[in-house]
Amino acid sequence: MEKKILEIRNLTKGFGRRGGYEYRVIKGINMDVYSGDFIAVMGPSGAGKTTLLNLLSTLDKPDGGSIILDREDLIKTGNKRLSEIRRDKIGFIFQEYNLLDNMSLEDNIALPLALNGVKSREVEMRVRKMADMFGLGEHLKKYPYQLSGGQKQRGASARALVTEPEILFADEPTGALDSRSSRELLMSLKNANDSGKATILMVTHDAYAASYAKQVYFLADGQIQCRLVRKEDRKEFYEKILDLQISMGGERE
Ligand SMILES: Nc1ncnc2c1ncn2[C@@H]1O[C@H](COP(=O)(O)OP(=O)(O)OP(=O)(O)O)[C@@H](O)[C@H]1O
Ligand SMILES: [Mg+2]
Repeated sequence: MEKKILEIRNLTKGFGRRGGYEYRVIKGINMDVYSGDFIAVMGPSGAGKTTLLNLLSTLDKPDGGSIILDREDLIKTGNKRLSEIRRDKIGFIFQEYNLLDNMSLEDNIALPLALNGVKSREVEMRVRKMADMFGLGEHLKKYPYQLSGGQKQRGASARALVTEPEILFADEPTGALDSRSSRELLMSLKNANDSGKATILMVTHDAYAASYAKQVYFLADGQIQCRLVRKEDRKEFYEKILDLQISMGGERE
């Protein structure tokens, strides 16, 4: 039995009031994530994907429900403990790479370990391992301005995974990449997942990106409407995702 990492129950979130009504974005979401999962949450623009991910990664507070990460309810957890949880248990990748410009790629990837006081030999070894996993071995001495968008995003992914977090959250990680760089990033994430190094929850509007996951959840009207589990190869899974998107009223891109 795989270890349950994340249990989401009746999660709700709204923003202010519009026309006298509270504007609810997340309307009762339930999900479980087990170690080794690679889940994509898909939904059209404005469906609440980023809102959901911000709640799960503790960047924002929900209105109701519970988020149990590794047996701790994040909603009942104080700020000091939350920052420890963010540091030790959660990795993030955003649409824009968020590497620090004045540090080499190597130092960027090493940063979370350096901040945690990990010994330099251990840091070097772990950075090297991550760089190999993301195909960055020969770029470690470069600065972000010397890297392509795809290399930067693979660097951001390596940095997010170097601490071996319980879970990696990714918000449209291929959003700023061309198709080749997207494929390389997704292959790297898939390899990290296949090799047991990463449990991934990614949100995306893109069926191609989602087809690299093992499960796809569809978010619409603030709720998870349905779920596909991948049983076939990636291309067939991609077609299935597109078909489901159409049947849910989405456009085939
Ligand atoms: N801080 C905020 N204050 C008010 N409304 C917000 C706030 N953040 C998000 N919203 C609203 O919540 C809804 C969902 O936004 P969200 O960013 O989660 O969508 P998304 O699914 O990530 O879309 P996209 O694919 O365009 O990134 C939108 O209608 C948005 O305007
Ligand atoms: Mg978004």
